[in-house]
Amino acid sequence: MGMIETFRSVVQFKPIETDPVTRRLSKAANVDDLRRIAKRRLPFGVFDYIDGGAEDEFALRDSVTAYRRLQFRPRILRDVSNIDTSTTLFGKTLPMPLLLAPTGFGRIAHSQGELAVARSAARAGLPYSLSTMATRSIEEVAAVSDGPKWFQVYTWKDRGLVKELVDRANSAGFEAIELTVDTAVLGRRERDVRRGYTLPPKIGLGTIVDGAIHPGWTIDFLRNEPITFSNVVGRQEDDGSSAVSLAEHVNAQFDAALSWDDVEWLASIWDKPIILKGVQSVADAKQAAASGVAGIKLSNHGGRQLDDAPNSIEMVEPVAQEVGGQIAIICEGGARRGSDIVKAIALGADAVAIGRPYLYALAAAGERGVDHLIGLFEDGLRRTMALTGARTIADIDRNLVVWKS
Ligand code: FNR
Repeated sequence: MGMIETFRSVVQFKPIETDPVTRRLSKAANVDDLRRIAKRRLPFGVFDYIDGGAEDEFALRDSVTAYRRLQFRPRILRDVSNIDTSTTLFGKTLPMPLLLAPTGFGRIAHSQGELAVARSAARAGLPYSLSTMATRSIEEVAAVSDGPKWFQVYTWKDRGLVKELVDRANSAGFEAIELTVDTAVLGRRERDVRRGYTLPPKIGLGTIVDGAIHPGWTIDFLRNEPITFSNVVGRQEDDGSSAVSLAEHVNAQFDAALSWDDVEWLASIWDKPIILKGVQSVADAKQAAASGVAGIKLSNHGGRQLDDAPNSIEMVEPVAQEVGGQIAIICEGGARRGSDIVKAIALGADAVAIGRPYLYALAAAGERGVDHLIGLFEDGLRRTMALTGARTIADIDRNLVVWKS
């Protein structure tokens, strides 16, 4: 064969992909890639608000790297030709033990914001939790999603407002509420402090320059109606229609006096599952179980509140030893791959919740980005189960992982 023939036989030009979103996603092999794309597309202040954590960000970094300290002890020759990733949570079957955690201000990542995430989660059959601080309302989300929906509760000092939100979530068919218990005051997010970041983003000279460098985001932002805290528009002075720092907002509106009595009060106005989000000790996990809630989220708010907080994945086993089987244990924070779900389940969690990964995906490619992200987690879960010899979620047992010293 001549040189030309040999060349021809190996060269294959891929057709040029004309759709920019498809092109972008074809290069996003993992969460890190989506993060990089998000970083390129978002104004610096917006990216840092999403990506950052409290103070020195030790809790944030450790929540991710702690997963790397776990190593698999795979089993072989177990016929893994049929993998079943389904599981049950609060009596309902889910296609896999993955949940989308509540995050506020969805529309700063992409104009579709919470609606895009809710639609994508519904398509995958996964629970999506809408934040109190969402930029799309309970009713708007219910209108686009017939999938499982949870509502995250921050306790305003005005308990009447909390009751109203909970009642609206109930009427709109939300299946569970989660009470965030790690935000008595707002953590000090020093990237936001340095940038003087406000929500919604304020248009100043710096913002204009930042916006000009990120035209895709800026055009999307300016073309759409202003961002507000949609759940409470008109219900209070500070409904997001004027720019304030998040710390000012939280510290003025949220009640630092929140206590176990409020958990009891919530149970008196909501008869579906209640989850405490932000449990960080075995003692509180036991108290939560005794209080009658349906579940807890071991979470340090993605390292955005207390720095040097315990990381969730390390809490799973000691907590499961005390309350496993009594209440659902959800491990939240730092999960970046499907294999991380296997690790958390092996240690005794019932499910894993993710925040930033879907926000990076949303910023990178909108709703299709979130679909892509959920696909990455699902593929990773399936592949890891096959490679560790676990055919079902119930097969994932404690012997499958060890902590590296
Ligand atoms: C959050 N989180 C959060 N939690 C909550 O209860 N109410 C909220 O409004 C928000 N808002 C929010 C915004 C952003 C930008 C982030 C990154 C996180 C915390 C969230 O529910 C979850 O605990 C973390 O995101 C989990 O960590 P990972 O998955 O981001 O590492």
